Amino acid sequence: MCGIVGYIGYEQAAPFLLGGLEKLEYRGYDSAGICLNDGEKLVVKKSKGKLEELKKLTNNGNDIIGTVGIGHTRWATHGEPSDVNAHPHLSDSCRFAVVHNGIIENYLQLKDMLTAKGVKFRSMTDTEVIAQLIEYYYKGDLVDTVIKVLSKLDGSYALGVISIEDPDEIIAVRKESPLIIGLGENENYIASDVPAILSKTRSIYRLENNEIAILRRDGVKIINTDKDEVTKQVETINWDIDAAEKGGYEHFMFKEIMEQPKAIRDTITPRIKNGRIVLDEIKLTAEQVKSFNKINILACGSAYHVGVVAKYIFEKVLRKPVETDLASEFRYRDPIVDEHTLTIVISQSGETADTKEAMKEAQRRGSHVISIVNVVGSAIASESDDVIYTWAGPEIAVATTKAYSTQLAVIYLMAIYFGDMLGTITPDEYRNYVSELESVPDKITKILEEEEHVQYLASKLFNSRDVFFIGRNIDYALSLEGSLKLKEISYIHSEAYAAGELKHGTISLIEKGTLVIALATHEELIGKIVSNIKEVQARGANVLCLACENHQELKDVAQSTIFIPHSCDMMLPSLAVIPLQLFAYYVASLKGCDIDKPRNLAKSVTVE
Ligand code: F6R
Repeated sequence: MCGIVGYIGYEQAAPFLLGGLEKLEYRGYDSAGICLNDGEKLVVKKSKGKLEELKKLTNNGNDIIGTVGIGHTRWATHGEPSDVNAHPHLSDSCRFAVVHNGIIENYLQLKDMLTAKGVKFRSMTDTEVIAQLIEYYYKGDLVDTVIKVLSKLDGSYALGVISIEDPDEIIAVRKESPLIIGLGENENYIASDVPAILSKTRSIYRLENNEIAILRRDGVKIINTDKDEVTKQVETINWDIDAAEKGGYEHFMFKEIMEQPKAIRDTITPRIKNGRIVLDEIKLTAEQVKSFNKINILACGSAYHVGVVAKYIFEKVLRKPVETDLASEFRYRDPIVDEHTLTIVISQSGETADTKEAMKEAQRRGSHVISIVNVVGSAIASESDDVIYTWAGPEIAVATTKAYSTQLAVIYLMAIYFGDMLGTITPDEYRNYVSELESVPDKITKILEEEEHVQYLASKLFNSRDVFFIGRNIDYALSLEGSLKLKEISYIHSEAYAAGELKHGTISLIEKGTLVIALATHEELIGKIVSNIKEVQARGANVLCLACENHQELKDVAQSTIFIPHSCDMMLPSLAVIPLQLFAYYVASLKGCDIDKPRNLAKSVTVE
């Protein structure tokens, strides 16, 4: 969600802060600001809107001097997006400045307490109470003061603090919201995520909950809230800065679509040894796996759609009942989950608030949690019982593509691995599944090579007002993702329907020219989906059908077709999703939409 960046060194801080914030734009924001210590006072510049506004305001950072500073991109939670609500926030006397990611749940009580003591507030934000509390409790030692203030806060936070009193340090701390420390030569940095500091360093610390980092020019000290020093491993980032930038494509989303064969290969190859699936990350014994009487899958958005695909696969391959739940619903009902339930949590960011809380609810009820996560060291990864990382690399476009695909790949790995453990698949099926899985990246490459056909179809259909995605069985699960992809980036109204449900209501919406995208990859139900295609065509629908290449006869059924290579049923969603991503991308591009940063959306939804 919000993005934090900070610098302490000997160079001018502002250009680095602005550059770092630019690299965090993918997190979603509505305003931005920076604060520097100019040697005499704390100077704050902030602006509603895109970073361009802040750059103009500061002459690209050249009008604001100082070698210690903090910056922030804000996504509004408390108080509307505005200049005054943008971070950094200053204390009453302007001696302390704070940037914050997260939510302070008890800020109103704290604000009332401070207001009663005569403290004047400028903004509507929860964050400002932190700056004011620091000033209120300050008695000459910033670290002691921050520790005292933390004891007053309920909620989640990643914080960066600078002050005129202790001009040669930045204090950084986190609880539930991510924060990393970058280690340089005579300079150090803080950031919400790696891309912000990659131009400077590859050596980082990842702060854990309640760890406090004290950054000076010549070093970084990490302590806990009892002021004991914490020894941490330096992590070396081994992906290239290019991986976090567009790499020659017009949009991150397109680049990430193209990266999918590699991302899937990176995710599966280290886990297939001599034809056998090795999931060392899962510490469960075969006895434990057998003892589960149910699988519970929790996630949000596209990750939830992976969970819906997984339900079809696991029930077929493992013969265990599977319930896939929206994390935001699960956490507020009274779910029937206990130590006999295996929970699988899926999240690209590993920081999605609803998913994290749903996971904790499942754990409270005794369930063993395996998470499937892309961001190493994120909250969900750290707090789940076992974690299987998807090696998709950083995903910058708000609309997920390669993370979705790698999550599916992990689902296949788990299905084969557990199927073998439970004895629900034969050795022949095992071999066949593994070899099909290994062939998925090459088949995707083939589909990507034919992307011009999808571009052509998008050019014919991008003016559609409503689009209905229909499918049966696993094709229905996939239609959920196809529909979300289209609507979130192109702003075209679209819905996904189980094709058999059409006649129970939705078919009344079909009129002359309505676009229906029919997914017809599931071999067993081709006849049924053909009947559904005919039903909507009879009401005037224009049908685009996505099918496997061995069903060329569908050319005579639908107005347009897209064919994908054949594969085993279980893995077809990995192939079929590619044209759907490309279709959404080209439609959005033809409509001139802000593809990488669709309106109102954030990459990482760290608040409820
Ligand atoms: C859609 C999209 C979102 C995310 C959802 C969960 O393209 O990206 O629907 O899938 O917000 O995010 P993570 O996977 O980070 O938990």
